[in-house]
Amino acid sequence: MRLTPGTGQETDLDRVDLFDLDLYSSGDPHRVWDVMRAEAPLHHQVLPDGREFWSVTRYDDVCRVLGDHRFFTSERGTVVTHLGVDDVAAGTLLTSTDPPRHSQVRRAIGTMLTARAVAPWEDRIRAAVGRFLEPALDGGVFDLAERALRLPMVVAGPVLGIPEPDWDKLVQLTAMVTAPSDPHFQLGNEASTLAISHHELVTYVTEWVRARRSTGGRDGSLLDHLMNVSVGGVPLTDEEIALDGYSILLGANVTTPHTVSGTVLALIEHPEQFAKVKADPTLVPNLVEEGLRWTSAACNFMRYAVGDTPIGGGVVPARGAVVAWIGSANRDESQFPDPHEFDVTRNAGRQIAFGFGPHYCIGAPLARLTLRIFFGELLRRFGSVELAGEPEHLRSYFIAGMTHLPVVAKK
Ligand code: HEM
Repeated sequence: MRLTPGTGQETDLDRVDLFDLDLYSSGDPHRVWDVMRAEAPLHHQVLPDGREFWSVTRYDDVCRVLGDHRFFTSERGTVVTHLGVDDVAAGTLLTSTDPPRHSQVRRAIGTMLTARAVAPWEDRIRAAVGRFLEPALDGGVFDLAERALRLPMVVAGPVLGIPEPDWDKLVQLTAMVTAPSDPHFQLGNEASTLAISHHELVTYVTEWVRARRSTGGRDGSLLDHLMNVSVGGVPLTDEEIALDGYSILLGANVTTPHTVSGTVLALIEHPEQFAKVKADPTLVPNLVEEGLRWTSAACNFMRYAVGDTPIGGGVVPARGAVVAWIGSANRDESQFPDPHEFDVTRNAGRQIAFGFGPHYCIGAPLARLTLRIFFGELLRRFGSVELAGEPEHLRSYFIAGMTHLPVVAKK
């Protein structure tokens, strides 16, 4: 998705199609969201097949939809690619469960992903990032977006307990789940791509658990941890372990790579910002927050209204689907002055790329650590990064990302 808006044409909100994949692969969604925030903070769209959804684009409204389960439930599904199809894993899968059950499960499984718990992985992540950047050192063309798809697995694979020979397959399957319409990942049509990849991922984790049960013993991995935690004295069921393992894999694989590529492209487009952080590496954590805001890789999440609910100057009817556009909230001028300026010295601490409220990304400490190490190493090794071809954007209205970003890095 284009992250620097153009000066393009007028937006007619009555005709805007937020599910038009061309908008994300070759259009200019930020220009559309700017107009929605100003003129239609609660927007309604009916798709040709009759499915309908409401959109909120302002920062405060997005936080409210994501953060208040009493009015906006996660229990019927949270991912727009499943709009209109109630989640069969509701109440079982962490992401599709409301408090209080959600808080109990999250507390139990989250202990291995806190900032303190992930800190000791720093050396291992740094070594993985070093290996990742090695091919760029020869000064040749390096497709950062394509290569970055593998980065989270290199970091999270050992943490989860997944053996290296399986990483490529899982990277491919998670990309299929999140961008089932992108030709790079599609198998048949969108529905079949979703069904096959979802099934194979859940089966993978289920078999991992079965194999571990039959051999016994503990390996200290996150999946192993899921098998051994209990919530209110009751262990998680195998179905819960499989589904939560699936969503951790998905969460890790599909967002971090696009944050890496989106931020690197912003640094290429703004060499003066590159120079600033290069000159002062203490700015790296700030660069990471600004990169998260700028990219907003998970560009939305969905909830369903519990009852008729006023928001954004209108009312979402009971059971209506509401899409909370994180990508737009992170460019809301009421929170971020000159929101379309990429500025590594900005105070981007209020960015909500990791969501807001009870479902705030459980992997945020790991993602932040990975991104800080990545940009620290990139800036330490290279004096500049330049484009070596046209970036290609992902065809997805859920994940803002790139499929190709050819670059040349110079020492
Ligand atoms: C830059 C990287 C990342 C971004 C932008 C991101 C974004 C998000 C967002 C916006 C949510 C909120 C979903 C909602 O409100 O329904 C979320 C939740 C989640 N993320 Fe991440 N994520 C990232 C990295 C990770 C990593 C590395 C992991 C795993 C290690 C992960 C696992 C999860 C899980 C399991 C949830 C669900 C939490 C819950 O329902 O309580 N994410 N993420």
